[in-house]
Amino acid sequence: MPTPTAAMRPDSLAARLDLADPDFAARLCLRLSAAELRLRATAGDAPHPLVAEWSRYLIEAGGKRLRPLLVLLAAEFATAGPDRATADRVLDAAVLVELVHVASLHHDDVMDGARSRHGVPSAPARWGNRTAVHLGDRLLVRAGRLAADLGPEVVRLQGEAAERLVRGQLRELTGPLDGESALGHHLAVIADKTGSLIALALRIGAELVGAPRPVARALAQYGEQLGLVFQLSDDLLDFASEPGESGKDAGIDLAVGVRTLPMLLALGEDGPRAAELRSLLERGPLADERDRRRAAELLRRSSAEARARELLHGHATEARDALAALPDIPARAALADLVGLVEHRSA
Ligand code: FPP
Ligand code: MG
Repeated sequence: MPTPTAAMRPDSLAARLDLADPDFAARLCLRLSAAELRLRATAGDAPHPLVAEWSRYLIEAGGKRLRPLLVLLAAEFATAGPDRATADRVLDAAVLVELVHVASLHHDDVMDGARSRHGVPSAPARWGNRTAVHLGDRLLVRAGRLAADLGPEVVRLQGEAAERLVRGQLRELTGPLDGESALGHHLAVIADKTGSLIALALRIGAELVGAPRPVARALAQYGEQLGLVFQLSDDLLDFASEPGESGKDAGIDLAVGVRTLPMLLALGEDGPRAAELRSLLERGPLADERDRRRAAELLRRSSAEARARELLHGHATEARDALAALPDIPARAALADLVGLVEHRSA
């Protein structure tokens, strides 16, 4: 990637992409910078300066900007040459998906009682739960307005993804249905809570440029798989990273009592360490920090981490395989490169 402009985030995944084609790299860089400026302006567009400041807080604090990048990459698969109006609509779509994402983080941090996000105090820790919930609502509604301007198909796609987001969160709370395996339940939850929005970014990008149907389908399949890779690597980071390394509270899944993939795998193991972990996790949410540290240590010493990485790698391979149906343009190579960055991310 060439030298990013001031508006492009240094912590973005795009800044780490290995782009061979200089014209494509320069175009992508400019588009990402434009999306970043528009994102801040849209979030901060509030009559009250305090609301504007609150709304921009988390956006300015950090972010990998994966979803806007995916919109822009999907829009490279246009059938016709670029026109200004379409390029402008694609930028709005990049803003839209990031707003939905940041809205969901506001709500998620309230639900998880998270104290930090992107290496700064989370919105609820900084402004309180009530403000954080309203800010999430505000950003979600603002995204809805953008979708309305982009047309009924975008509204439909966004509605479908938002429904899946909420369903994923609720199913995380309810646990498996009678007869449903814990592993199957977890994969369905993460497909809904994370895969849906990542796939949405690709779906909208393809839709706005009129990408051929098989291309749009392959991009959506790639997005669903990338979403699983993203969330499974998140599950691993929760107990594998040092406090402060990921910019989030370490061990929060243990604190909230969410059974992630490595936990589910470790619970099924034999031996004294697995038995100790079972007795810890059976207590539900681990409020005591010493218990969380011990559970994280037991997880790191189990074979579950390696088995979860294997599963994660399988989904990364499926994501790359979906790209085979796409024309060989620089955006396809960027999407392939992105899979590795998400699989091995540390934040
Ligand atoms: C992060 O999970 C949370 C999500 C991916 C989805 C959150 C969705 C909602 C709260 C539903 C409401 C939705 C909207 C659009 C307002 P995590 O806790 O595993 O990840 P983390 O480690 O980043 O916190
Ligand atoms: Mg969370």
